[in-house]
Amino acid sequence: MSKLKIAVQKSGRLNEDSMKILKDIGISIDNGKDQLKASAKNFPLEVFYLRNGDIPQYLKDGVVDAAIIGENVLIEKGNHISVVEKLGFSSCKVSIAVPKSAKYNGIKDLEGKRIATSYPNTVNQFLEKNNVKANLHIINGSVEIAPNIGLADAIVDIVSSGSTLFKNGLKEVEVLLKSEAVLAVSPLISSENQQTLNKLQFRLQSVLRGRQ
Ligand code: PRP
Ligand code: MG
Repeated sequence: MSKLKIAVQKSGRLNEDSMKILKDIGISIDNGKDQLKASAKNFPLEVFYLRNGDIPQYLKDGVVDAAIIGENVLIEKGNHISVVEKLGFSSCKVSIAVPKSAKYNGIKDLEGKRIATSYPNTVNQFLEKNNVKANLHIINGSVEIAPNIGLADAIVDIVSSGSTLFKNGLKEVEVLLKSEAVLAVSPLISSENQQTLNKLQFRLQSVLRGRQ
């Protein structure tokens, strides 16, 4: 029997919540965390542990059939990937922040400024919509340090508890989008695996109703 291949985040906050919801729907996975792939014991499912940012491409290419992923990552790089279920956990925002001491009266204040981010498409879309031109510095992590080291005047990154902004002396000034974990599906999923996905989704819906 063919197995549904599902991607989850390899490590990080989304990983724990993703494994928890799979457990809650009765799917038990023999996990060696160091393994990149694991099979479920009682459901035709294989879990692939991948880097968040790589997952949209794996979905597009049909390397995996489905994924539990942050909506924000799909918005950044997942055009043509459908979301089949919102999962109600790992909520966050993608926001603009500036140093606490900086004066900020509105988006126009970003004109000509340097913005550090891991979300260039999301930022560019927002800037275009608001008719502001700024210079993007694309970095992959620890974005909030950029203003302190003189690399940028503002940042765009994920805000969850707000603790990283606070620790780095930054204040949130604009929310670009709100996000949560979602179940996303590859456009290339086979009809056999689609049926397995439907069963998985059905179980997810009952657990989500129970969590409300
Ligand atoms: C993520 C994100 C923010 C932070 C937000 O970073 O990039 O920096 O969490 O969470 P908070 O509002 O609760 O502080 P992470 O720690 O995962 O590391 P990374 O940026 O190096 O990927
Ligand atoms: Mg970070």
